[in-house]
Amino acid sequence: MAEDNIFPHLHQVDQNLRSGLKNQHPVVIWLTGLSGSGKSTIANALEYRLANDYRSHTYLLDGDNIRKGLNAGLGFSDEDRKENIRRVGEVSKILYNAGLIVITAFISPFRADREMVRGMIEPGAFWEVFVSCPLEVCMQRDPKGLYRKALKGEISEFTGITSPYEEPLAPELQVKSDQYSVDECVAQIIGAMLEKQIIKQPG
Ligand code: ADX
Repeated sequence: MAEDNIFPHLHQVDQNLRSGLKNQHPVVIWLTGLSGSGKSTIANALEYRLANDYRSHTYLLDGDNIRKGLNAGLGFSDEDRKENIRRVGEVSKILYNAGLIVITAFISPFRADREMVRGMIEPGAFWEVFVSCPLEVCMQRDPKGLYRKALKGEISEFTGITSPYEEPLAPELQVKSDQYSVDECVAQIIGAMLEKQIIKQPG
């Protein structure tokens, strides 16, 4: 195997030094949920608050953006979704090792794939956040008109319609986007980060 001839290096500048320079604890905040549940909106608002109010060094990886670039060419079969999540997991690990607070917004419908990513990151530093919202509400919101298309049979393997979504069994956090506003969901995540001393009150 070609990999047999590859020897990874250990670098002198490691995660501890990098995060120490940034004076922060890196973490991967992994948002999972149905299309239309609000992952991207919450992720964006969360990143803004972390950067603006807490002066955190962050990076946001978002499904729709990554699928236009790094993961262009991947579709929505179970195998392609697994590869999508595996690559995003590897990128998250790199950004985590760079000392950043990483936020991801992918449907990531399969438990096994989310657990695969959990296994890539240091114990305790992977936070699975379930953005929960009943399918009917997501279908009603239908911000991109995709549920409508999926119901007409114009999109195959659509999550929640013709492809499964496996809810997290024991997420670090659940935010109910049908019951709370975006700001309230963000406040719940920030509250948990403060409690776990991932971030500190500014000032
Ligand atoms: S994942 O399942 O592989 O994690 P990802 O989050 O990257 O999905 O991409 C989901 C986005 O792709 C959705 O928000 C939607 O805009 C778009 N999309 C296009 N086709 C599908 C499909 N068949 N199922 C789900 N999302 C789709």
